[in-house]
Amino acid sequence: MTLFGGSMIRKFVLGDPIETESVVEDIERSNGTIPYWVINENEKTMTLAMDKDARVYGLGEQVRGMNKRGWHYVSYCADEPHHEEGKTSLYGAHNFFIYDPGCDGMAGRFGMYVDTPGAVEFDIGYEDHDEMRIIFKDFDANIYFIDGTSLSDIVKQFRRIIGQSYIAPRWAFGLGQSRWSYMNVDEVREVIDAYEKAKIPLDSVYLDIDYMERYKDFTINNDTFSGFDGFVSEMAQRKIHLIPIIDAGVKIEEGYDVYEEGIKGDHFVKDEDGKPFTAAVWPGRVHFPDFLKEDTRRWFGDKYKVLTDMGIDGFWNDMNEPAIFYSEKRLKECFNKIDGYKNENLDINSFFEFQGTVNGLNNSLEDHKSFYHEFKGKKIRHDKVHNLYGYNMTRAAGEAFSRIAPDKEILMFSRASYIGMHRYAGIWTGDNMSWWSHLLLSIHQLPGLNMCGFLYAGPDTGGFGCDVTEDLMIRWVSFSIFTPLFRNHSAMGTRRQELYRFKNTEVFKNLVGLRYALIPYLYSEYVWAAKNDEMLFKPLCFEYENDERAKDVEDQLFVGRSIMIAPVYTQNASGRYVYLPEDMKMIRLRSTEDYDEECLDAGDHFLRAEEGEVLVFVRKGRELPLAEPVLRTADLNDKAFKTIKY
Ligand code: GLC
Repeated sequence: MTLFGGSMIRKFVLGDPIETESVVEDIERSNGTIPYWVINENEKTMTLAMDKDARVYGLGEQVRGMNKRGWHYVSYCADEPHHEEGKTSLYGAHNFFIYDPGCDGMAGRFGMYVDTPGAVEFDIGYEDHDEMRIIFKDFDANIYFIDGTSLSDIVKQFRRIIGQSYIAPRWAFGLGQSRWSYMNVDEVREVIDAYEKAKIPLDSVYLDIDYMERYKDFTINNDTFSGFDGFVSEMAQRKIHLIPIIDAGVKIEEGYDVYEEGIKGDHFVKDEDGKPFTAAVWPGRVHFPDFLKEDTRRWFGDKYKVLTDMGIDGFWNDMNEPAIFYSEKRLKECFNKIDGYKNENLDINSFFEFQGTVNGLNNSLEDHKSFYHEFKGKKIRHDKVHNLYGYNMTRAAGEAFSRIAPDKEILMFSRASYIGMHRYAGIWTGDNMSWWSHLLLSIHQLPGLNMCGFLYAGPDTGGFGCDVTEDLMIRWVSFSIFTPLFRNHSAMGTRRQELYRFKNTEVFKNLVGLRYALIPYLYSEYVWAAKNDEMLFKPLCFEYENDERAKDVEDQLFVGRSIMIAPVYTQNASGRYVYLPEDMKMIRLRSTEDYDEECLDAGDHFLRAEEGEVLVFVRKGRELPLAEPVLRTADLNDKAFKTIKY
């Protein structure tokens, strides 16, 4: 039990849990029972009777709204590009939630962290609206139970036991332009030239898998990206950071140093027979480093030096759930099965079976059950520790940076994650779509992520898959100018969405200009939140706990201590309804030069917000400083050139 300012954290132990190293505070095991929960060891479940008006917040990166009640969520890092309501898992596994009872709730308000690295399901009123059930695969977990006086206080206590969040460099708050398909240096130069010509601020360009030689980590394609270190310095002269991607799978290829060292150093996960497990991702056949092993983390982490030595100071780690297209073994089985169908009349059953044979090849649980890690000297099957994989890949890099580039502040974020990884890096929310509903989803996801320690976070602005429209891009940018990670990323084959390509470049210039003007405020609130275990994005009810109306508002957010935002996330809207829990000053910002201010009373309002207009609400007694907009963060002058006060 640990006491913080009068509130309490108790640790309960179920079975024989695997140590995830997500909690950094030493908390003594409590031998009592977990308050309010009924445990059924045979069924491997814990059940809580939920109050009629209870709400549940948290679970980090997940589908659906901020209040998680009414659906079930499976914590199992998934390579899942379809972030739809019917899904139960996305890329992160973040098992922390807060139970907030109704006014006359039986159970008290509490937070709970279910620390277990395998699959675990949170049924929050899905089977039975009045019950929450936690359904374990393996009944082994450390459970941290946090009593708290308020929602924010519970988060703060939790964040304290998991350790301080990663702090990204300030330049990483600048706009990043990304697209899967920048094929060579000239294309990258063209993008930067066009941003400069349109006078839209920019700080970084992301390099997706095509900068590598045949998708091999820590290599450069010498035909298309020749003289890479010279190119990095040319970009640095223009104050542009290049941010390469690193994937989890290591290509199997004789003569490729990373592969050969991996074999020699016994760094890859193994199949049942003790041979390196073979699966396939972008480069075809790969082995996966066993990031759960300390010396493998050290080895792989040191590899980033190839790139930091060339001047690189930012990375994104991808495909680290790990994503698997197919395993060698199952591909063989699949071909054999398909052979059998050749001369058959495929009817309703056999046709679907035939289709399923190929479609079921990727990311299969059967594969997860067929390879092994060496974890603290013991052999352990992957599915039992699945959620630790991306976390430890990113930790490998995070731990290495202080060795290989001690003088640099490095940007790092990952796709897969588990709580604990927040100390080393941020995350992006993966392959979303250019859909209005995914703009709203990203508004919903940020507070949940912040609760779990992921402060440097953001979606692929504009959407990764599908074709974006200009109005969606305008509204999405109007929201993303507030998120720490502000990156425009899209998939190969979709409509191009660099901001200068749209008709109304002036609007984008002004919006991104506003972002740069907001950076001194955003960055200082972000660092404050990281250092004080606070959230940067808060739902209204975290600030106004007794305001019943505020509890239903899931499309407005407090950003830092001074402002609230109310993004527009529907097509063809001329404005939106906004609820003010207190009197506030509204600023309708079109640019740093062009805005109106209006004092509004607490309550509901319909507020006009045309495309290109951003609604920001300043709280009483607070102020919002704006810096002079510049084209690069390096040129920002921290002295506010305007301050809007209320
Ligand atoms: C994955 C990533 C995406 C990237 C693509 C190609 O889908 O999530 O961001 O562009 O791989 O590397």
